[in-house]
Amino acid sequence: MKISLDGQVALVTGGSSGIGAASAKALAQVGAAVVINYHSNAEPAEQLADEIKAAGGRAIAVGADVGDEQAVEQLFAKTIEAFGRLDILVANSGLQRDAPSHEMTLKDWNMVIQTNLTGQFLCARAAIQQFLKQGVNAELSRAAGKIIHMSSVHEVIPWAGHVNYAASKGGVSLMMKTLAQEVAEKRIRINSIAPGAIATAINEDVTGNEEGRRELLKLIPYKRVGDVEDIGNAVVWLASDLSDYVVGTTLFVDGGMCLYPGFQDNG
Ligand code: BGC
Repeated sequence: MKISLDGQVALVTGGSSGIGAASAKALAQVGAAVVINYHSNAEPAEQLADEIKAAGGRAIAVGADVGDEQAVEQLFAKTIEAFGRLDILVANSGLQRDAPSHEMTLKDWNMVIQTNLTGQFLCARAAIQQFLKQGVNAELSRAAGKIIHMSSVHEVIPWAGHVNYAASKGGVSLMMKTLAQEVAEKRIRINSIAPGAIATAINEDVTGNEEGRRELLKLIPYKRVGDVEDIGNAVVWLASDLSDYVVGTTLFVDGGMCLYPGFQDNG
């Protein structure tokens, strides 16, 4: 069995690093043209686009703050201008601003909600508008379009010291399901991926040192920290027709982190 997204166009928000960059690469490897969105750091996004083009693929880098309504409209307009259509949105942009709740500023609360939840909504809304315009093109896919929200194990696991982040991901969970229920009859497929501990810049303070890793592994039954490719592979599957009957689901890619590892020899 071979997955091909030839002729399809994918937009990956927050695509210049970490999970977003791995998703963009993986989608390009199976033939999709990719729009690599970045927030402020153009260089790594441009580099990734060059890499994809050098390997024979199609890619562009486009800057936009996903929490800004107008910027999102421009991002989608540039996508259509460059590649003529959109088939896959990976709503991936996300950030953390951690603090105990009694010390958390409104600015840090708002910033995380704005990017992680409102940003995903604005991008999903724009993608749905485009998919409704296009309809199904059976030569490309059984669906009119696919949206993959990047959630987190923290859509179900409470996380002390990260209330803004956990609230944003809990929000992504019901937003995804509600959108999926709403537009499934139009053959628009919406799902989420909930990564566990994937080594990226977002958790370098923990995954970047031996003691942090040792403590983290206690929370992972499969006893390895995840790689960005683990998520890129899941993105490709959810974007392809191999998952055509998967609608409104969160796919946990977490080495078993959600299995209450504390109960392994306890309780
Ligand atoms: C967070 C990471 C964390 C992981 C597991 C992710 O959503 O962004 O910082 O390591 O969840 O707790």
